[in-house]
Amino acid sequence: MFRVSRRKFLKGKRFMLAGAFVLMVVYLSKHLIGFEHHFQPVDVSKVTSQVEPPIKTSSYIFSWPRCQQNISAANMTDFSSFPDRMKDFLYYRHCRHFPMLLDLPDKCGGPGKSADVFLLLVIKSPPVNYDRREVLRKTWAKERLENGVWIRRLFILGMMDSGYEKERLNKLLEMEQREYNDILQWDFNESFYNLTLKQILFLEWMERNCPNARFLLNGDDDVFANTDNMVLYLQSFEVNDGSKHLFIGNLNINMEPIRTPGSKYFVPVQLHESDVFPPYCSGGGFLLSGYTALVIYNMSQSITLLPIDDAYMGMCLGKAGLHPSSHIGVKAAGLDISSNRIDTHDPCLYKDLLLVHKFPPSHMYLLWQRIHDPSLTCDYKKKL
Ligand SMILES: *[C@@H]1O[C@H](CO)[C@@H](O)[C@H](O)[C@H]1NC(C)=O
Ligand SMILES: *[C@@H]1O[C@H](CO)[C@@H](O)[C@H](O)[C@H]1NC(C)=O
Ligand SMILES: *[C@@H]1O[C@H](CO)[C@@H](O)[C@H](O)[C@H]1NC(C)=O
Ligand SMILES: *[C@@H]1O[C@H](CO)[C@@H](O)[C@H](O)[C@H]1NC(C)=O
Ligand SMILES: *[C@@H]1O[C@H](CO)[C@@H](O)[C@H](O)[C@H]1NC(C)=O
Repeated sequence: MFRVSRRKFLKGKRFMLAGAFVLMVVYLSKHLIGFEHHFQPVDVSKVTSQVEPPIKTSSYIFSWPRCQQNISAANMTDFSSFPDRMKDFLYYRHCRHFPMLLDLPDKCGGPGKSADVFLLLVIKSPPVNYDRREVLRKTWAKERLENGVWIRRLFILGMMDSGYEKERLNKLLEMEQREYNDILQWDFNESFYNLTLKQILFLEWMERNCPNARFLLNGDDDVFANTDNMVLYLQSFEVNDGSKHLFIGNLNINMEPIRTPGSKYFVPVQLHESDVFPPYCSGGGFLLSGYTALVIYNMSQSITLLPIDDAYMGMCLGKAGLHPSSHIGVKAAGLDISSNRIDTHDPCLYKDLLLVHKFPPSHMYLLWQRIHDPSLTCDYKKKL
């Protein structure tokens, strides 16, 4: 890691100011000045003195040298028999720092004010999942004051594809950022095996920018989270300032690493010797306190990355002597309803839950509206 020298930083800043200035002129010419035939040159010196350029600069600008492939990783026993994505993971497993492409250092009002964030929603989303982000923004992940406390939202992303498609997706994220201010993006390749990296990069960001957020919901962009209920649940603790250990979700105990190379979850014995993982909560969605998030980050510094992100969280908790717990309201595998006499999208089934996995965006939207319908009445005896 090295901090950019002040001169370079100022030079960068001037460059950005100039860029923002050009953008602003384009904007003014398009939107404020009117049709082309009315176009008149703008006296730019006046414009700049009146309007602050719309840029947010980070108070810390970090730059990282490009992380080099570890060629010796190929010396590992049976390396040549591993699937390509596992080889790729091993070649880059030591890389833990990547530059940010989109940052929001002020998301929590700065480190000092971050205790005002009661529930920070941290949602893993690959760049292509625009439709999912869009529906979450208007349903359970809406930023709002809920029962007197603040809910804030962040999507965490890497990069996808190459060439023009990669450029298009990056442009899309930039536009989303301009409109919603909810994107953290790092310069690494999105993949299932890189989710642990994504998680650790987020925790590093949190320690720097939002260390006092009280609670976090960490999850995927395809879950249905009843954030109203989460706030009530978290507020019900005697100490609810996030300073105590909390880690709840769908608890997995005695899970065995999958040793089949063809599996999405393949973990060879060379990566995890033990035949069981420590207890962990399914990565679809779990709730944790700000305290526990920072402990996990601390522990992660001395634990080699494992390509299964939720099991890795369990390893970090284990090292700190902390336990994940289960919560009946978290249904990571979705609801198990076999009777076809029950509508699996009946809002009454979801009203009292905290989190359910796997929802298509349209159902998400409908369900969120329906559980907030004041005329909704649920006859629990009949339904459950
Ligand atoms: C490991 O790999 C490197 C680079 O391929 C090679 O130079 C080195 O000799 C190998 N070390 C061992 C112990 O096999
Ligand atoms: C590279 O891989 C080898 C073999 O797995 C490992 O011993 C070494 O620590 C790795 N180097 C880095 C920088 O991670
Ligand atoms: C990321 O993936 C693209 C193709 O998807 C590849 O061309 C590129 O080399 C990868 N970058 C790194 C740093 O591995
Ligand atoms: C993780 O991201 C790094 C940086 O872009 C890339 O080199 C590596 O190939 C990715 N790993 C996997 C398993 O995709
Ligand atoms: C994490 O580590 C830092 C530095 O070692 C320490 O100051 C901090 O108290 C630790 N935080 C937690 C929550 O354990």
